[in-house]
Amino acid sequence: MNKTIIITGGAGFIGSHVVRLFVDKYPDCRIINVDKLTYAGNLANLKDVEDRPNYRFVKADICDFEAMRTLMEAERVDGIIHLAAESHVDRSIRDPFTFARTNVLGTLSLLQAAKEYWESLPEGYSGKRFYHISTDEVYGALELTHPEGIEPPFTTKASSGKHHLAYGDTFFYETTRYNPHSPYSASKASSDHFVRAFHDTYGMPVIVTNCSNNYGPYQFPEKLIPLFINNIRHRKPLPVYGKGENVRDWLYVEDHARAIDLIFHKGKDAETYNIGGFNEWKNIDIVKVLVRTADRLLGRSEDEDMGLITYVTDRKGHDMRYAIDSTKLQRELGWEPSLQFEEGIEKTVRWYLDNQEWMDMVTSGEYMKYYDGMYGKR
Ligand code: NAD
Ligand code: TYD
Repeated sequence: MNKTIIITGGAGFIGSHVVRLFVDKYPDCRIINVDKLTYAGNLANLKDVEDRPNYRFVKADICDFEAMRTLMEAERVDGIIHLAAESHVDRSIRDPFTFARTNVLGTLSLLQAAKEYWESLPEGYSGKRFYHISTDEVYGALELTHPEGIEPPFTTKASSGKHHLAYGDTFFYETTRYNPHSPYSASKASSDHFVRAFHDTYGMPVIVTNCSNNYGPYQFPEKLIPLFINNIRHRKPLPVYGKGENVRDWLYVEDHARAIDLIFHKGKDAETYNIGGFNEWKNIDIVKVLVRTADRLLGRSEDEDMGLITYVTDRKGHDMRYAIDSTKLQRELGWEPSLQFEEGIEKTVRWYLDNQEWMDMVTSGEYMKYYDGMYGKR
């Protein structure tokens, strides 16, 4: 195969799992991790693969068009898997400009660099692929519904015909109209449109996937699950927004990484695939599972820390429900999530409790020095 693939945002949460999977699984491919190392980038996430001969880290900003263009030519890049982004909704509410810059202009800069480089080759776009990782949040928010007066969650049937529990009878499909509400989702929606426009205008071979909420090891502890696990450990309050009634559809991060691998290699150009686990949970129920699991693993008495749950002012414009229908991916490419949520949550809580050193390094800000020690100035 001997392909050279750029993975952007590889020092972040999902990106680090994708880099690890590709470096391990494709020893004949060169994997180049391009990451600016913002607050969310942590090279310690990739400690186990940093010395592999088929891996290279490049500290760069995707918004730097010249740097991207030069790198693609120097490395003769065949494929790009683009995960670099500002990813936290609460930060986007406080500072939308940073989201527009990285998510919109950064994506455009990568697209234009890839276009110029690939169009300069005798073979043009043949054998090339630009794969853009997006989110279900671009579709907007779904309602909690009560068909025939039944209190959710109720059993429903996906378009695949499989039964699962849901909090409403509507879902996000690949054909659902974009309707983003937060500055984060608006910036991701805009970047998705640019990616598709590069296919329609220049014929660039692109793929876009929209995935639901991920959870698992190495997630930055500003997001619900790692933040709350760490707070339970230290007996700090668990700030639940609003009434905790909002519903998210959760997928174990390694299942997302496997889907990305499959789609990068087997997906069809210009297609969109939804990725999700048919796994809807109300926030407050997740928080209770986290408390129970952490208390058990920490040897505390049952439900000892339920009192840490604190209802706080709701997030502005808080989307009520996300629910992805990933039937197309399951039917066309045979992907299935491998973990049940109960199993994934147990693994995740255990990982954060066992890796307190990683958590302390992140919460103290020490992780920012990892790059200094390894590679010179950050
Ligand atoms: P993350 O915030 O953990 O990591 C983002 C990474 O991008 C960091 O390493 C950061 O340093 C890097 N980065 C940020 N700005 C950059 C820039 N200008 N140039 C180069 N690198 C830059 O994010 P994540 O949760 O791993 O999400 C990765 C991607 O997946 C994002 O595009 C996000 O929108 C998408 N996504 C995330 C989820 C989720 O639940 N986390 C779900 C669906 C889709
Ligand atoms: P988050 O992990 O930020 O992901 P997203 O906003 O992309 O879905 O939040 C998941 C859910 O948890 C979301 O409904 C907001 C809620 N939440 C809280 O209730 N308290 C918190 O401290 C955080 C970070 C999130």
